Amino acid sequence: MEDLGPRPGDLETIETASVDELRALQTERLRWSVRHAYEHVPHYRASLDAVGVHPDDVRELEDLARLPFTAKADLRENYPYGMFAVPREQVVRVHASSGTTGRPTVVGYTRDDIDTWAHVMARSIRAAGGRAGHVLHNAYGYGLFTGGLGAHYGAERLGCTVVPVSGGMTERQVQLIVDFEPDLIMVTPSYMLAIVDEMERQGVDPRGTSLRVGIFGAEPWTNDMRREMEQRLDMHAVDIYGLSEVIGPGVAAECVETKDGLTVWEDHFYPEVVDPVTGQVLPDGEEGELVLTSLTKQAMPVLRYRTRDLTRLLPGTARTMRRIEKITGRTDDMIILRGVNLFPTQIEELILSLPALSPHFQCVLERTGRLDSMVVVVERREGVDPATADRAGAELQLLVKNRIGVSIEVRAVAPGSVERSMGKMRRIVDRRVAR
Ligand code: DLL
Repeated sequence: MEDLGPRPGDLETIETASVDELRALQTERLRWSVRHAYEHVPHYRASLDAVGVHPDDVRELEDLARLPFTAKADLRENYPYGMFAVPREQVVRVHASSGTTGRPTVVGYTRDDIDTWAHVMARSIRAAGGRAGHVLHNAYGYGLFTGGLGAHYGAERLGCTVVPVSGGMTERQVQLIVDFEPDLIMVTPSYMLAIVDEMERQGVDPRGTSLRVGIFGAEPWTNDMRREMEQRLDMHAVDIYGLSEVIGPGVAAECVETKDGLTVWEDHFYPEVVDPVTGQVLPDGEEGELVLTSLTKQAMPVLRYRTRDLTRLLPGTARTMRRIEKITGRTDDMIILRGVNLFPTQIEELILSLPALSPHFQCVLERTGRLDSMVVVVERREGVDPATADRAGAELQLLVKNRIGVSIEVRAVAPGSVERSMGKMRRIVDRRVAR
Protein backbone atom coordinates (compact mmCIF):
# COMPACT_ATOMS: atom_id res chain seq x y z
CA MET A 1 0.00 0.00 0.00
CA GLU A 2 1.17 3.47 -0.79
CA ASP A 3 2.75 5.84 1.73
CA LEU A 4 0.10 8.45 2.56
CA GLY A 5 1.76 9.96 5.64
CA PRO A 6 2.13 13.73 6.02
CA ARG A 7 4.65 15.70 3.96
CA PRO A 8 6.50 18.74 5.40
CA GLY A 9 4.05 21.58 5.90
CA ASP A 10 0.96 19.36 5.93
CA LEU A 11 0.36 19.51 9.67
CA GLU A 12 -1.02 22.33 11.80
CA THR A 13 1.44 23.87 14.25
CA ILE A 14 -0.48 22.55 17.27
CA GLU A 15 -0.24 18.97 16.02
CA THR A 16 3.51 19.00 16.56
CA ALA A 17 3.77 21.64 19.33
CA SER A 18 5.57 20.68 22.53
CA VAL A 19 3.61 19.02 25.32
CA ASP A 20 4.14 22.17 27.43
CA GLU A 21 2.62 24.39 24.76
CA LEU A 22 -0.31 22.02 24.43
CA ARG A 23 -0.92 21.89 28.19
CA ALA A 24 -0.78 25.69 28.40
CA LEU A 25 -3.40 26.03 25.67
CA GLN A 26 -5.61 23.38 27.29
CA THR A 27 -5.38 25.07 30.70
CA GLU A 28 -6.45 28.40 29.30
CA ARG A 29 -9.29 26.82 27.34
CA LEU A 30 -10.44 24.68 30.25
CA ARG A 31 -10.82 27.75 32.45
CA TRP A 32 -12.94 29.37 29.78
CA SER A 33 -15.08 26.29 29.21
CA VAL A 34 -15.85 25.71 32.89
CA ARG A 35 -16.77 29.34 33.40
CA HIS A 36 -18.89 29.38 30.25
CA ALA A 37 -20.80 26.25 31.32
CA TYR A 38 -21.25 27.50 34.88
CA GLU A 39 -22.51 30.91 33.87
CA HIS A 40 -24.88 29.82 31.13
CA VAL A 41 -26.19 26.33 31.89
CA PRO A 42 -28.31 25.96 35.06
CA HIS A 43 -27.48 22.26 35.23
CA TYR A 44 -23.73 22.95 35.52
CA ARG A 45 -24.21 25.78 37.98
CA ALA A 46 -26.23 23.47 40.21
CA SER A 47 -23.88 20.50 39.88
CA LEU A 48 -20.76 22.57 40.59
CA ASP A 49 -22.44 24.38 43.49
CA ALA A 50 -23.44 21.01 44.91
CA VAL A 51 -19.77 19.99 45.26
CA GLY A 52 -18.69 23.48 46.30
CA VAL A 53 -16.46 24.15 43.30
CA HIS A 54 -16.48 27.57 41.64
CA PRO A 55 -14.95 28.26 38.19
CA ASP A 56 -12.31 30.39 40.00
CA ASP A 57 -11.11 27.17 41.68
CA VAL A 58 -10.25 25.60 38.34
CA ARG A 59 -6.75 26.87 37.63
CA GLU A 60 -4.85 23.81 36.44
CA LEU A 61 -5.77 20.75 34.41
CA GLU A 62 -5.53 18.65 37.59
CA ASP A 63 -8.41 20.67 39.07
CA LEU A 64 -10.73 19.06 36.53
CA ALA A 65 -10.88 15.96 38.75
CA ARG A 66 -12.80 18.04 41.32
CA LEU A 67 -15.74 18.56 38.97
CA PRO A 68 -18.70 16.19 38.91
CA PHE A 69 -19.28 13.93 35.91
CA THR A 70 -21.93 14.57 33.29
CA ALA A 71 -23.95 11.58 32.10
CA LYS A 72 -26.35 10.90 29.27
CA ALA A 73 -29.18 11.03 31.82
CA ASP A 74 -28.34 14.71 32.47
CA LEU A 75 -28.89 15.45 28.79
CA ARG A 76 -32.16 13.52 28.78
CA GLU A 77 -33.43 15.37 31.83
CA ASN A 78 -32.75 18.65 30.10
CA TYR A 79 -34.43 17.62 26.85
CA PRO A 80 -34.47 19.21 24.38
CA TYR A 81 -32.61 22.54 24.78
CA GLY A 82 -31.79 22.73 28.50
CA MET A 83 -28.04 22.07 28.14
CA PHE A 84 -27.51 24.93 25.69
CA ALA A 85 -25.22 27.71 26.88
CA VAL A 86 -26.34 30.22 24.23
CA PRO A 87 -29.79 31.54 23.25
CA ARG A 88 -31.51 29.03 20.96
CA GLU A 89 -31.42 31.61 18.14
CA GLN A 90 -27.62 31.29 18.00
CA VAL A 91 -27.83 27.54 17.50
CA VAL A 92 -27.55 26.97 13.76
CA ARG A 93 -27.95 23.21 13.88
CA VAL A 94 -29.09 20.38 16.13
CA HIS A 95 -28.40 16.65 15.93
CA ALA A 96 -29.90 13.92 18.07
CA SER A 97 -29.13 10.37 19.06
CA SER A 98 -31.80 7.81 18.32
CA GLY A 99 -32.37 7.07 21.99
CA THR A 100 -33.12 3.37 22.26
CA THR A 101 -34.52 3.97 25.70
CA GLY A 102 -36.78 6.95 26.29
CA ARG A 103 -36.10 10.42 24.95
CA PRO A 104 -33.36 11.05 22.43
CA THR A 105 -30.49 13.30 23.44
CA VAL A 106 -30.22 16.56 21.57
CA VAL A 107 -27.01 18.42 20.82
CA GLY A 108 -26.61 21.93 19.38
CA TYR A 109 -23.97 23.91 17.52
CA THR A 110 -23.29 27.60 16.99
CA ARG A 111 -21.77 28.73 13.71
CA ASP A 112 -18.34 28.67 15.39
CA ASP A 113 -18.97 25.13 16.67
CA ILE A 114 -19.76 23.95 13.14
CA ASP A 115 -16.50 25.58 12.09
CA THR A 116 -14.54 23.81 14.87
CA TRP A 117 -16.15 20.51 13.93
CA ALA A 118 -15.32 20.90 10.24
CA HIS A 119 -11.78 21.79 11.30
CA VAL A 120 -11.20 18.70 13.47
CA MET A 121 -12.85 16.49 10.85
CA ALA A 122 -10.64 17.91 8.09
CA ARG A 123 -7.67 17.22 10.38
CA SER A 124 -8.91 13.66 10.93
CA ILE A 125 -9.31 12.97 7.21
CA ARG A 126 -5.87 14.42 6.56
CA ALA A 127 -4.41 12.19 9.30
CA ALA A 128 -5.97 9.23 7.46
CA GLY A 129 -4.12 10.23 4.29
CA GLY A 130 -6.81 12.38 2.64
CA ARG A 131 -5.73 15.48 0.73
CA ALA A 132 -7.32 18.37 -1.14
CA GLY A 133 -8.38 17.16 -4.54
CA HIS A 134 -9.28 13.63 -3.43
CA VAL A 135 -12.73 12.25 -4.19
CA LEU A 136 -14.46 11.09 -0.99
CA HIS A 137 -17.40 8.67 -0.95
CA ASN A 138 -19.39 9.40 2.22
CA ALA A 139 -21.64 6.51 3.20
CA TYR A 140 -22.26 7.60 6.81
CA GLY A 141 -25.94 8.33 7.29
CA TYR A 142 -27.06 11.93 6.76
CA GLY A 143 -29.69 13.33 9.10
CA LEU A 144 -29.94 13.55 12.86
CA PHE A 145 -26.98 11.14 13.14
CA THR A 146 -23.74 13.15 13.25
CA GLY A 147 -21.77 10.80 10.94
CA GLY A 148 -22.94 12.00 7.54
CA LEU A 149 -22.88 15.77 7.95
CA GLY A 150 -19.81 15.65 10.20
CA ALA A 151 -17.77 13.83 7.56
CA HIS A 152 -19.26 15.98 4.81
CA TYR A 153 -18.25 19.35 6.27
CA GLY A 154 -14.79 18.08 7.18
CA ALA A 155 -14.14 16.69 3.72
CA GLU A 156 -15.29 19.92 2.06
CA ARG A 157 -13.10 21.90 4.43
CA LEU A 158 -10.09 19.82 3.46
CA GLY A 159 -10.86 20.45 -0.20
CA CYS A 160 -12.13 17.02 -1.24
CA THR A 161 -14.80 16.36 -3.83
CA VAL A 162 -17.55 14.90 -1.66
CA VAL A 163 -19.98 12.28 -2.93
CA PRO A 164 -22.78 12.52 -0.31
CA VAL A 165 -24.25 9.04 -0.72
CA SER A 166 -25.44 8.41 2.87
CA GLY A 167 -26.20 4.85 3.98
CA GLY A 168 -28.30 2.23 2.20
CA MET A 169 -28.96 1.12 -1.39
CA THR A 170 -25.89 -1.08 -1.40
CA GLU A 171 -26.04 -1.90 -5.11
CA ARG A 172 -25.85 1.77 -5.95
CA GLN A 173 -22.97 2.31 -3.52
CA VAL A 174 -20.95 -0.12 -5.61
CA GLN A 175 -21.93 1.51 -8.89
CA LEU A 176 -20.94 4.95 -7.57
CA ILE A 177 -17.57 3.64 -6.37
CA VAL A 178 -16.92 2.15 -9.81
CA ASP A 179 -18.08 5.24 -11.73
CA PHE A 180 -16.82 8.15 -9.55
CA GLU A 181 -13.50 6.53 -8.65
CA PRO A 182 -13.21 7.82 -5.06
CA ASP A 183 -9.84 7.83 -3.28
CA LEU A 184 -11.45 7.70 0.15
CA ILE A 185 -14.50 6.08 1.67
CA MET A 186 -16.09 6.97 5.01
CA VAL A 187 -18.51 4.39 6.37
CA THR A 188 -19.09 2.14 9.38
CA PRO A 189 -16.86 -0.95 9.23
CA SER A 190 -19.86 -3.30 9.28
CA TYR A 191 -21.48 -1.54 6.33
CA MET A 192 -18.16 -1.59 4.45
CA LEU A 193 -18.29 -5.38 4.71
CA ALA A 194 -21.76 -5.41 3.18
CA ILE A 195 -20.48 -3.19 0.34
CA VAL A 196 -17.51 -5.51 -0.32
CA ASP A 197 -19.84 -8.52 -0.45
CA GLU A 198 -22.01 -6.65 -2.95
CA MET A 199 -18.94 -5.84 -5.08
CA GLU A 200 -18.14 -9.52 -5.25
CA ARG A 201 -21.75 -10.38 -6.10
CA GLN A 202 -21.60 -7.91 -9.00
CA GLY A 203 -18.27 -9.28 -10.21
CA VAL A 204 -16.35 -6.11 -9.26
CA ASP A 205 -12.85 -6.90 -7.94
CA PRO A 206 -12.64 -5.08 -4.55
CA ARG A 207 -8.84 -4.90 -4.81
CA GLY A 208 -9.11 -3.26 -8.20
CA THR A 209 -11.19 -0.20 -7.23
CA SER A 210 -9.79 3.34 -6.95
CA LEU A 211 -10.13 3.30 -3.13
CA ARG A 212 -6.93 4.08 -1.22
CA VAL A 213 -8.22 4.65 2.31
CA GLY A 214 -11.26 3.66 4.34
CA ILE A 215 -12.07 5.78 7.40
CA PHE A 216 -14.14 3.58 9.67
CA GLY A 217 -15.88 4.40 12.93
CA ALA A 218 -19.14 4.84 14.86
CA GLU A 219 -18.84 1.29 16.23
CA PRO A 220 -16.08 -0.92 17.64
CA TRP A 221 -13.90 -2.93 15.26
CA THR A 222 -10.69 -4.84 15.79
CA ASN A 223 -7.19 -4.88 14.32
CA ASP A 224 -8.07 -8.28 12.84
CA MET A 225 -10.93 -6.59 11.00
CA ARG A 226 -8.42 -3.99 9.77
CA ARG A 227 -6.27 -6.75 8.28
CA GLU A 228 -9.34 -8.31 6.65
CA MET A 229 -10.39 -5.01 5.05
CA GLU A 230 -6.90 -4.05 3.94
CA GLN A 231 -6.39 -7.43 2.41
CA ARG A 232 -9.75 -7.59 0.65
CA LEU A 233 -9.73 -4.02 -0.61
CA ASP A 234 -6.03 -3.33 -1.02
CA MET A 235 -6.33 0.00 0.82
CA HIS A 236 -5.48 1.49 4.20
CA ALA A 237 -8.13 1.08 6.90
CA VAL A 238 -8.03 3.64 9.72
CA ASP A 239 -10.20 4.34 12.73
CA ILE A 240 -12.16 7.46 13.61
CA TYR A 241 -13.95 8.11 16.89
CA GLY A 242 -16.43 10.56 18.25
CA LEU A 243 -19.79 10.97 19.87
CA SER A 244 -22.66 13.40 19.41
CA GLU A 245 -22.55 14.74 22.95
CA VAL A 246 -18.94 15.86 22.54
CA ILE A 247 -19.25 17.10 18.92
CA GLY A 248 -19.74 14.07 16.62
CA PRO A 249 -17.05 12.22 14.65
CA GLY A 250 -13.61 13.84 14.82
CA VAL A 251 -12.86 13.73 18.54
CA ALA A 252 -10.00 11.32 17.80
CA ALA A 253 -8.58 9.79 14.65
CA GLU A 254 -5.90 7.38 13.59
CA CYS A 255 -2.82 8.51 11.66
CA VAL A 256 -2.23 6.41 8.56
CA GLU A 257 1.55 6.39 9.02
CA THR A 258 1.34 4.61 12.40
CA LYS A 259 -2.13 2.97 12.74
CA ASP A 260 -1.47 2.58 16.44
CA GLY A 261 -4.61 3.92 18.06
CA LEU A 262 -6.46 7.22 17.71
CA THR A 263 -4.89 10.60 18.36
CA VAL A 264 -7.24 12.64 20.54
CA TRP A 265 -7.51 16.21 19.23
CA GLU A 266 -6.63 17.41 22.69
CA ASP A 267 -6.61 21.08 21.82
CA HIS A 268 -10.44 20.83 21.67
CA PHE A 269 -11.33 17.78 23.79
CA TYR A 270 -9.63 16.94 27.07
CA PRO A 271 -9.52 13.19 27.80
CA GLU A 272 -9.42 11.35 31.10
CA VAL A 273 -9.78 7.64 31.78
CA VAL A 274 -11.59 6.67 34.98
CA ASP A 275 -12.46 3.50 36.82
CA PRO A 276 -16.00 2.78 35.57
CA VAL A 277 -17.15 1.69 39.02
CA THR A 278 -15.46 4.13 41.42
CA GLY A 279 -15.02 7.08 39.03
CA GLN A 280 -11.39 7.40 40.20
CA VAL A 281 -9.08 8.96 37.58
CA LEU A 282 -6.63 6.33 36.33
CA PRO A 283 -3.03 6.97 35.28
CA ASP A 284 -2.29 6.96 31.54
CA GLY A 285 -1.89 3.42 30.26
CA GLU A 286 -4.57 1.86 32.46
CA GLU A 287 -7.80 0.67 30.97
CA GLY A 288 -11.07 2.26 31.98
CA GLU A 289 -13.89 4.50 30.82
CA LEU A 290 -13.11 7.49 28.65
CA VAL A 291 -14.34 10.83 30.01
CA LEU A 292 -14.25 13.92 27.79
CA THR A 293 -14.42 17.64 28.45
CA SER A 294 -14.98 20.10 25.63
CA LEU A 295 -12.52 23.01 25.66
CA THR A 296 -13.91 25.26 22.93
CA LYS A 297 -17.55 24.39 22.35
CA GLN A 298 -20.01 27.26 22.66
CA ALA A 299 -23.58 25.98 22.23
CA MET A 300 -23.27 22.86 24.34
CA PRO A 301 -20.16 22.63 26.49
CA VAL A 302 -19.69 19.27 28.21
CA LEU A 303 -17.74 18.89 31.44
CA ARG A 304 -16.39 15.43 32.24
CA TYR A 305 -18.84 13.58 30.00
CA ARG A 306 -18.91 9.85 30.71
CA THR A 307 -18.71 8.16 27.33
CA ARG A 308 -19.14 4.55 28.58
CA ASP A 309 -16.42 3.63 26.06
CA LEU A 310 -13.56 1.49 27.32
CA THR A 311 -9.97 2.28 26.34
CA ARG A 312 -6.54 3.42 27.58
CA LEU A 313 -4.69 6.71 27.17
CA LEU A 314 -1.30 6.32 25.49
CA PRO A 315 1.52 8.79 24.79
CA GLY A 316 1.61 10.57 21.44
CA THR A 317 3.53 9.02 18.54
CA ALA A 318 2.73 10.56 15.14
CA ARG A 319 1.53 13.73 16.92
CA THR A 320 2.22 15.40 20.29
CA MET A 321 -1.31 14.69 21.46
CA ARG A 322 -2.10 11.51 23.35
CA ARG A 323 -3.74 8.52 21.77
CA ILE A 324 -6.55 6.25 22.85
CA GLU A 325 -6.26 2.58 22.16
CA LYS A 326 -8.85 1.11 19.77
CA ILE A 327 -12.06 0.92 21.75
CA THR A 328 -12.88 -2.53 23.13
CA GLY A 329 -16.55 -1.80 23.60
CA ARG A 330 -19.00 0.13 25.72
CA THR A 331 -19.73 -0.68 29.34
CA ASP A 332 -23.37 -1.16 28.20
CA ASP A 333 -22.28 -3.67 25.51
CA MET A 334 -20.47 -5.84 27.98
CA ILE A 335 -22.12 -9.24 28.06
CA ILE A 336 -22.07 -10.87 31.46
CA LEU A 337 -22.51 -14.53 30.76
CA ARG A 338 -22.71 -16.69 33.87
CA GLY A 339 -20.33 -14.34 35.64
CA VAL A 340 -17.84 -13.94 32.79
CA ASN A 341 -17.50 -10.53 31.13
CA LEU A 342 -17.05 -10.44 27.38
CA PHE A 343 -17.37 -8.07 24.47
CA PRO A 344 -18.45 -8.73 20.86
CA THR A 345 -15.00 -7.47 19.74
CA GLN A 346 -13.41 -10.49 21.44
CA ILE A 347 -15.68 -12.78 19.44
CA GLU A 348 -14.82 -10.84 16.26
CA GLU A 349 -11.10 -11.43 16.82
CA LEU A 350 -11.56 -15.16 17.25
CA ILE A 351 -13.90 -15.49 14.25
CA LEU A 352 -11.37 -13.74 12.03
CA SER A 353 -8.73 -16.29 12.99
CA LEU A 354 -10.85 -19.00 11.33
CA PRO A 355 -10.73 -18.79 7.52
CA ALA A 356 -14.02 -20.66 6.99
CA LEU A 357 -16.01 -18.04 8.93
CA SER A 358 -16.94 -14.53 7.77
CA PRO A 359 -17.04 -11.42 9.97
CA HIS A 360 -20.86 -11.27 9.67
CA PHE A 361 -22.03 -12.37 13.10
CA GLN A 362 -24.37 -11.64 15.98
CA CYS A 363 -24.34 -12.67 19.61
CA VAL A 364 -27.79 -13.91 20.60
CA LEU A 365 -28.49 -14.07 24.32
CA GLU A 366 -31.14 -16.45 25.56
CA ARG A 367 -32.40 -17.71 28.86
CA THR A 368 -33.42 -21.28 29.38
CA GLY A 369 -34.70 -21.87 32.86
CA ARG A 370 -32.48 -19.80 35.13
CA LEU A 371 -29.36 -20.01 33.00
CA ASP A 372 -28.23 -17.47 30.43
CA SER A 373 -26.77 -18.82 27.23
CA MET A 374 -25.20 -17.23 24.19
CA VAL A 375 -25.34 -18.40 20.61
CA VAL A 376 -22.92 -16.85 18.16
CA VAL A 377 -24.65 -16.90 14.79
CA VAL A 378 -21.94 -16.52 12.16
CA GLU A 379 -21.97 -16.81 8.39
CA ARG A 380 -19.65 -19.16 6.61
CA ARG A 381 -17.60 -17.57 3.86
CA GLU A 382 -18.74 -17.77 0.25
CA GLY A 383 -17.57 -21.05 -1.31
CA VAL A 384 -17.12 -22.86 2.03
CA ASP A 385 -19.26 -26.00 2.42
CA PRO A 386 -21.53 -26.35 5.50
CA ALA A 387 -19.57 -29.27 6.99
CA THR A 388 -16.30 -27.30 6.96
CA ALA A 389 -18.11 -24.32 8.47
CA ASP A 390 -19.53 -26.51 11.23
CA ARG A 391 -16.05 -27.76 12.07
CA ALA A 392 -14.84 -24.14 12.25
CA GLY A 393 -17.86 -23.39 14.45
CA ALA A 394 -16.83 -26.15 16.85
CA GLU A 395 -13.33 -24.73 16.87
CA LEU A 396 -14.68 -21.25 17.67
CA GLN A 397 -16.62 -22.72 20.58
CA LEU A 398 -13.39 -24.21 21.91
CA LEU A 399 -11.44 -20.97 21.40
CA VAL A 400 -14.05 -18.99 23.33
CA LYS A 401 -13.99 -21.55 26.13
CA ASN A 402 -10.18 -21.53 26.34
CA ARG A 403 -9.49 -17.83 25.82
CA ILE A 404 -12.50 -16.17 27.44
CA GLY A 405 -13.49 -18.94 29.81
CA VAL A 406 -17.16 -19.42 29.06
CA SER A 407 -19.16 -22.02 27.14
CA ILE A 408 -21.17 -20.77 24.20
CA GLU A 409 -22.90 -22.31 21.24
CA VAL A 410 -21.93 -21.49 17.66
CA ARG A 411 -24.30 -21.70 14.72
CA ALA A 412 -22.58 -21.42 11.34
CA VAL A 413 -25.15 -20.24 8.80
CA ALA A 414 -25.29 -19.60 5.05
CA PRO A 415 -23.79 -16.42 3.55
CA GLY A 416 -26.33 -13.58 3.62
CA SER A 417 -28.43 -14.87 6.51
CA VAL A 418 -27.21 -12.52 9.24
CA GLU A 419 -28.89 -9.11 9.19
CA ARG A 420 -26.80 -6.49 7.36
CA SER A 421 -26.20 -3.06 8.83
CA MET A 422 -26.55 0.16 6.86
CA GLY A 423 -24.90 2.02 9.71
CA LYS A 424 -24.15 0.75 13.18
CA MET A 425 -24.37 -3.02 13.37
CA ARG A 426 -26.49 -4.62 16.09
CA ARG A 427 -24.00 -7.15 17.47
CA ILE A 428 -26.02 -8.21 20.49
CA VAL A 429 -29.54 -9.59 20.22
CA ASP A 430 -30.90 -9.98 23.72
CA ARG A 431 -33.77 -12.46 23.86
CA ARG A 432 -33.68 -12.87 27.63
CA VAL A 433 -36.83 -11.81 29.40
CA ALA A 434 -36.42 -9.01 31.89
CA ARG A 435 -35.63 -10.32 35.32
O1 DLL B 1 -21.16 7.47 16.18
C1 DLL B 1 -20.11 9.59 15.78
C2 DLL B 1 -19.31 8.99 14.70
C3 DLL B 1 -19.76 8.98 13.40
C4 DLL B 1 -18.02 8.52 14.96
C5 DLL B 1 -19.00 8.46 12.38
C6 DLL B 1 -17.24 8.03 13.94
C7 DLL B 1 -17.72 7.99 12.66
P1 DLL B 1 -22.98 8.62 18.25
O2 DLL B 1 -24.05 8.12 17.35
O3 DLL B 1 -23.33 9.63 19.27
O4 DLL B 1 -21.84 9.27 17.42
O5 DLL B 1 -22.34 7.35 18.96
C8 DLL B 1 -21.21 7.49 19.78
O6 DLL B 1 -20.39 5.30 19.11
O7 DLL B 1 -19.73 6.56 22.37
C9 DLL B 1 -18.93 4.79 20.87
O8 DLL B 1 -19.61 3.88 21.73
C10 DLL B 1 -19.29 4.47 19.43
N1 DLL B 1 -18.16 4.76 18.55
C11 DLL B 1 -17.97 5.84 17.76
N2 DLL B 1 -16.80 5.73 17.08
C12 DLL B 1 -16.23 4.56 17.47
C13 DLL B 1 -15.03 3.89 17.15
C14 DLL B 1 -21.08 8.65 16.46
N3 DLL B 1 -14.17 4.36 16.27
C15 DLL B 1 -20.74 6.12 20.23
N4 DLL B 1 -14.77 2.72 17.80
C16 DLL B 1 -19.47 6.20 21.04
C17 DLL B 1 -15.63 2.21 18.71
C18 DLL B 1 -17.10 3.96 18.43
N5 DLL B 1 -16.79 2.79 19.02
